[in-house]
Amino acid sequence: MQLKIQRYDPEADVRPYLKAYTVDLNQVQGMMLLDVLEYIKDHLDPTLSIRRSCGGGVCGSDGMNVNGKNVLACQTQLATLPEDVTIYPMPGMPVVRDLVVDMSQFYKHFESVEPYLQPKQLPKDHEQIQSIEDRAKLDGLYECIMCGCCTSACPSSWWNPDKFVGPQGLLTAARFVADSRDGQKEKRLDNLSGKYKLYRCRGIFSCTTVCPKGLNPTQAIADLRSAQEDV
Ligand code: FES
Repeated sequence: MQLKIQRYDPEADVRPYLKAYTVDLNQVQGMMLLDVLEYIKDHLDPTLSIRRSCGGGVCGSDGMNVNGKNVLACQTQLATLPEDVTIYPMPGMPVVRDLVVDMSQFYKHFESVEPYLQPKQLPKDHEQIQSIEDRAKLDGLYECIMCGCCTSACPSSWWNPDKFVGPQGLLTAARFVADSRDGQKEKRLDNLSGKYKLYRCRGIFSCTTVCPKGLNPTQAIADLRSAQEDV
């Protein structure tokens, strides 16, 4: 099979280019795409740069654009891909090198929604208790592994990378707004007011389509808007 991979070393290359690697299918049968990339590094080209850590869909390090769709390489079985595969770094983020992107802006948006509990006051003699029903309201909101696949797939994030908080940041905001233990719901919603932070979403569901965890940031954004109207 052939994999075309975008290569770019900003210190050596004038512009990005595609480099083709031919891999013997007998050598990589049954592998995940991440393992195939490691195979290429080990056997064909040690200069290829990728980011990875866990290899099991937990750390969120290896988001990349494969045949036009953002995926985690470690969760993508080679058997599900066609004979010809083209891999780009995640779109909408500056390239550090090859498939490694700079996610600084993505993390700034995450930080901007204050992603930690802020209770009004903590009980003195026991831990903070949450009912089973209230805990269930966090399902579908807390599982994000911050791979960036959603925000990178979002045209509104491409056009307003510094102003629109983006699907990941807004999913996280919704997770804390929904948490019965948090005491800053109004402040959180107020922080998202204005034309850009929350309202640049056009509801095209790109984020939801690519989320490797099956989460629904578009729904979370709609819930935040409803919550803003209720305050
Ligand atoms: Fe950790 Fe893929 S390497 S999520």
